[in-house]
Amino acid sequence: TGTYENVKVEKVGEKKNVTLIQLNRPKALNALCDALIKDLNQALDEAEADKDVGAIVLTGSQRAFAAGADIKEMQDVKSFSDVYNTNFSLAWNRVTESGADIAEMRNKDFVEVFSKDFPKFDGIARLKKPILAAVNGIALGGGCELAMMCDIIYAGERAQFGQPEITLGTIPGAGGTQRLTWAIGKSKSMEMILTGNRMTAQEAEKAGLVSKVFPVETLVDETVKTAEKIASFSKTIVSICKECVNASHNMTLNEGLHFEKRLFHATFSTHDRQEGMTAFVEKRAPNFKDC
Ligand code: CAA
Repeated sequence: TGTYENVKVEKVGEKKNVTLIQLNRPKALNALCDALIKDLNQALDEAEADKDVGAIVLTGSQRAFAAGADIKEMQDVKSFSDVYNTNFSLAWNRVTESGADIAEMRNKDFVEVFSKDFPKFDGIARLKKPILAAVNGIALGGGCELAMMCDIIYAGERAQFGQPEITLGTIPGAGGTQRLTWAIGKSKSMEMILTGNRMTAQEAEKAGLVSKVFPVETLVDETVKTAEKIASFSKTIVSICKECVNASHNMTLNEGLHFEKRLFHATFSTHDRQEGMTAFVEKRAPNFKDC
């Protein structure tokens, strides 16, 4: 695996089929500066491309998952066009390096480049492989939003979630108003976003933001165990499952049911569906081939 300044990457699990990405900018409590986002993107690309990896775990330190977008980077932004360009800076760099211009990016590759380079939006949700967040300590602002982009959130028992943007004179800008509302409903989401108050791990579990709470020390291991279980199944089928569940946010019920049925039918053309059912009937473990 590659080495990065702001994230640590390791392949873990008995079969080394889980990529563990640890945000590692302790001095700023893992505030999501441009350089960290860039490293995170590359580490995610690497894990997504690795044929042996079946799931990804994203974590921070015991003190902080992430303290949000980097306030120092945003502090001097003066105008709408500045912030627009700030949010674009990574995509912008990639495009200008390759000699293309902004107009071309907007017209053609805009969505592709933007969301891929900037997981603050939907870069993470676009990954085919499942990604699990293991949140210890604070997940604030963009940190909470980053956790919510993941497919499953497990929390350490002293974790805290919050959207404190209102206290800074701004609003959540990386999906918080949408994903938090999907996760915990309007009243709780409004309360958090309008007051900036934090939610404890236990409250977050009760509200459905978090699937499970573990002791601080065992959180990452427990998350890796779940990731290993997911990675033991057919990668093809796992990615189809993930796509279907995520589709539920973007479709009406009827459209979603239709989408699910079509992908369910599609699984019948795979080796792994045949193998899974044959193995069940023959009372043996399946041998999935990811095809
Ligand atoms: N951006 C930049 N630097 C940050 C940061 C952030 N979001 N959060 C913490 N840091 C830095 C601090 O500036 C400090 O650095 P210095 O030592 O150089 O001063 C260092 O990390 C340690 O932080 P504190 O000394 O403040 O530690 P603490 O334990 O007293 O407090 C905290 C911890 C309550 C998390 C506090 O740091 C804090 O409130 N941070 C900001 C949280 C926040 O408002 N996040 C939302 C950001 S906006 C956003 O995310 C927009 C979006 O939707 C995309």
